[in-house]
Amino acid sequence: MEPPVPRLLGPPDIPAAMDLKKAAGWNQTEADWRNVLCLAPEGCFGIEAAGRLASTATAVRYDRRLAWIGMVLTHPTCRGRGFARRLMEHALEHLAAHGSEWIKLDATDMGRPLYRRLGFEDECPIERWGRGAEAAVSAPRVASFALDEWRSLDAQAFGADRSRLLATLAPCGSAAIPGGGYAMARPGANAAYFGPCVSRSPEAARQLLGWFLAGHPFQPAYWDLLPENTAAAELAREFGFAPLRRLVRMVRPGVAGAAPLTHHNSHVYAIAGFEYG
Ligand SMILES: CC(C)(COP(=O)(O)OP(=O)(O)OC[C@H]1O[C@@H](n2cnc3c(N)ncnc32)[C@H](O)[C@@H]1OP(=O)(O)O)[C@@H](O)C(=O)NCCC(=O)NCCS
Repeated sequence: MEPPVPRLLGPPDIPAAMDLKKAAGWNQTEADWRNVLCLAPEGCFGIEAAGRLASTATAVRYDRRLAWIGMVLTHPTCRGRGFARRLMEHALEHLAAHGSEWIKLDATDMGRPLYRRLGFEDECPIERWGRGAEAAVSAPRVASFALDEWRSLDAQAFGADRSRLLATLAPCGSAAIPGGGYAMARPGANAAYFGPCVSRSPEAARQLLGWFLAGHPFQPAYWDLLPENTAAAELAREFGFAPLRRLVRMVRPGVAGAAPLTHHNSHVYAIAGFEYG
């Protein structure tokens, strides 16, 4: 049987979307769903079965060069019925209609076979690190985050202009080390989340991590990092984080002959989230 036709998701779908993410044990909150709906009002899709939301996928377009797919979730009782595949195809059609040149995502082991079949290739490993609740530490001096100061470094590191994402996440918690780097933090369902953090040096990243830890005493914490940035992994280990899960960052061209994307993972100390890159 053909899977049902995908439809656009909107704010009224957030409670049902939260049920899907809870069933997968993910860390996102209602605010995270609100943010992704706000960043991609035409790029969040769902499939219903038996009158309830059964599957989701989101596609955030940063600029013409790069779009990011995330929140690919199917309720455990509805898996294996082609819902995720249908939603992925729909999301890819949506991005093709907008001329997105490159499409990336961070794949779990469960999602990877599907993405491979849809033409995605491995780019690099990505890891979720975590640490348990620990006592308060004193806060280093940091400056406030100003988007205009970091837009360019972030775009060089990430490979696309994600100003709208940074502007959306900054009010939750953000800090900067002048000339060094910036970091953000937000609450999670299971643990406080450190990221994104983009820094020119390990020293600035260390201070930004200190800012994050000082602001989240007695709370478990998550940090998603690219292990090829060995300075980030060393810092994580030094501060009591340990690897919890390994995913794979994958990439697929959206437009034939698009110029290659460049990025600098050595400046990426923490990603913004698996749903954002
Ligand atoms: C991954 C997930 C979204 C797949 O949803 P789904 O609706 O069951 O997927 P589909 O029925 O559309 O199957 C898609 C394809 O993947 C294959 N597939 C699905 N689950 C699989 C598994 N566990 N192992 C191997 N292949 C699998 C199917 O055979 C199908 O292949 P085909 O299109 O060639 O026939 C779902 O298992 C899930 O929500 N997992 C937990 C959250 C997660 O890890 N999401 C992925 C984030 S990157």
